[in-house]
Amino acid sequence: MRTSLISLLAVASVAIAAPAPSRVSQMKRSTSCTFTSAASASASKKSCTTIVLDNIEVPAGETLDLTDLTSGTRVVFKGETTFGYEEWDGPLIEISGSNIIVAGTSNHTINGGGERWWDGEGTNGGKTKPKFFYAHDLDDSTITGLNVKNTPVQAFSVESNNLVLNAITIDDSDGDSNGGHNTDAFDVGDSNGVTIRNAVVMNQDDCLAVNSGKNIVFTGGTCSGGHGLSIGSVGGRSDNTVQNVTISDSVVKDSENGIRIKTNSGTTGSVSGVTFSNIQISGITDYGIVFEQDYENGDPTGTPTDGVPITDLTVEKVTGTVESDATEVYILCASGACSDWTWSGVSVTGGSSSEKCENVPSGTSC
Ligand SMILES: *[C@@H]1O[C@H](CO)[C@@H](O)[C@H](O)[C@H]1NC(C)=O
Ligand SMILES: *[C@@H]1O[C@H](CO)[C@@H](O)[C@H](O)[C@H]1NC(C)=O
Repeated sequence: MRTSLISLLAVASVAIAAPAPSRVSQMKRSTSCTFTSAASASASKKSCTTIVLDNIEVPAGETLDLTDLTSGTRVVFKGETTFGYEEWDGPLIEISGSNIIVAGTSNHTINGGGERWWDGEGTNGGKTKPKFFYAHDLDDSTITGLNVKNTPVQAFSVESNNLVLNAITIDDSDGDSNGGHNTDAFDVGDSNGVTIRNAVVMNQDDCLAVNSGKNIVFTGGTCSGGHGLSIGSVGGRSDNTVQNVTISDSVVKDSENGIRIKTNSGTTGSVSGVTFSNIQISGITDYGIVFEQDYENGDPTGTPTDGVPITDLTVEKVTGTVESDATEVYILCASGACSDWTWSGVSVTGGSSSEKCENVPSGTSC
């Protein structure tokens, strides 16, 4: 035992005293490639440790395809990234791999040019609109500091394990008066370990929507113009479990809802261990806080079902105001399907109380 400990220490001290990494590994690490076309970036993506996308114009109907990157690759958006116009589903950008860093230079913009597709219908009809960014199987990775403008429809689709999305700005505010619709900022599903930190979102749909997944954090966000911070709608997909989600220290303003959980009626699944903590709301037009188990085809039916119970829910320090014609808090649970809720420091004022709350768990006010 003693001998092996001593030899371990000896190895450690040699490692500390070792000279700088060999030339081979230094060369490998400094292989930086700058591309000015999407096709060349996709073609050479595996041979570069850093991929700089310099003012790239992605052709219409094509994905900026950075899938299956070599572990350790860094992707940097520089200048203005633009996309040709075509009616198609997208995505405009897709990146996958593990141990990847996706970043942007300080003055870059990824401009979806969404105004060319916006027709007020989003994904419900009208023009077929490309999704913006698939972060699918982008594991143990980080996306940081991206400046995104005018997504045609939903922005980030996240289906990954251990992915951090840091300081991403999505400015779809042009769509407020210009037909932007279903411009969800972050749609998270089938994921384990997603942290979205310091996002700034101006859009026309959910700032965050978690449809399934576990160990998810959204913190330090500022959301405006959209539908608020949402779990759901849960149920009726292949993965219908939402577990351990913390949404904290964020602001929701000028939006339809503040915080929300919706589950689909007649389906099964579960929502457990969700915490909303320190959320400030203002200018809310529909509901300050809304938890309901009655969705069907994207609309509430008014009749909750118990197949997707909401348990171990914490709502703390959710404060602020709604518009005078809005509802402060609305809770619609099926019998026995909402339990173990903790409610503290909640103060939502300015609107009216709901008279339609059902099966409200004890300790919760509605
Ligand atoms: C920032 O980027 C825009 C558009 O790409 C360009 O017009 C402007 O000159 C850049 N500003 C600086 C300070 O580099
Ligand atoms: C919940 O998720 C967070 C963030 O991933 C993690 O740090 C924490 O350990 C998880 N808690 C449980 C009980 O799994």
